Amino acid sequence: MDESKKTLYSAVQPTNNLTIGNYLGAIKNWVALQENYNCFFAIADMHAITVRQTPAELRQKTLSLAALYIACGVNPEKCTLYVQSHVSAHARLCWVLNTFAYVGEMERMTQFKDKSAKHADNINMGLMDYPVLMAADILLYQAEVVPVGHDQKQHLEIARDIARRFNNAYSPTFTVPEGVFMKVGAKIGDLLDPTKKMSKSAENAGGSIFLSDDKDTVIRKFKRAVTDSGSEIKYDPENKAGVSNLLSIYSLFTNKSVAEAEREFSGRGYGEFKLAVGEAVADKLAPLQKEQARLLADKEYLNGVLKVGAENASRTADRTLNKVHKKIGFYQI
Ligand code: TYM
Repeated sequence: MDESKKTLYSAVQPTNNLTIGNYLGAIKNWVALQENYNCFFAIADMHAITVRQTPAELRQKTLSLAALYIACGVNPEKCTLYVQSHVSAHARLCWVLNTFAYVGEMERMTQFKDKSAKHADNINMGLMDYPVLMAADILLYQAEVVPVGHDQKQHLEIARDIARRFNNAYSPTFTVPEGVFMKVGAKIGDLLDPTKKMSKSAENAGGSIFLSDDKDTVIRKFKRAVTDSGSEIKYDPENKAGVSNLLSIYSLFTNKSVAEAEREFSGRGYGEFKLAVGEAVADKLAPLQKEQARLLADKEYLNGVLKVGAENASRTADRTLNKVHKKIGFYQI
């Protein structure tokens, strides 16, 4: 680990099919950031089980997500890529941090409320504890920087509060992390209801572009994307949520600025615009899917990456956990 670099932490849950929201809001940014930070990228399978999963699917999606990270450009030679449940320190720190988190604040979390409504038959303790486990993830690695989408802002605030509470109760132990949110891309909207975030678990799959979608599906979904009244292709999230969302997606997939994209489509119709966005996205997804499939066929390589990742992660995480155990007075032999 390069001590002169700051530490960065992020994770994605291996649930459902990932969308371009997950890619643009999180993974795509990791690739650029990995050059300048000591990065830890996890597959958050412990978070995933807060909603009931089919075991065989969870296993398959975990490996598939590891392949996807690498296919997207996460370089396991440069960063630590691992599965959360392989590092026991996460569960152990989570337990300690639970005593620094309050039931009332957990009940007020937007995601807890949303997921409780959606899974009313299974409002388990893990669902409520989700943000504390996330705090444990981040704090174990003393991460300074956490690049996530906008929907994780509240959870990041809780992680910061918990870190400060612990530091104040004992002595400085945890680095207080900062969230990094992209100006464009931190909140990719649903194509059919752009004021809502695009989600892996949306009821209508027509509003989400999955990273596994083929070209025809991508084009069809973009063709049906809602735009706004008027005909101007202009970035104005307040009044033109649909068009602005499409401009954000186009800009991020083509690495052009939003202003450049506006100029490119000035005077052109919505139909032509939507087709161009669909093509830009599909053209980027195809090689990514091919590379993911190639990696998935080499399970031995992926297992090797995850094994080394878990060892590296454990080394750092155990250091923090030991410190915490000493401070709170757990007897040491
Ligand atoms: P998950 O799997 O729900 O989401 C993974 C990442 O994708 C981002 N995201 C979006 N960004 C922009 N637009 C969207 N429509 C969109 N939808 C999702 C999320 O903000 C997230 O960055 N709880 C985390 C996983 C996690 C984690 C952590 C993250 C577990 N431990 C520690 C950071 C640090 C989550 O939401 O995963």
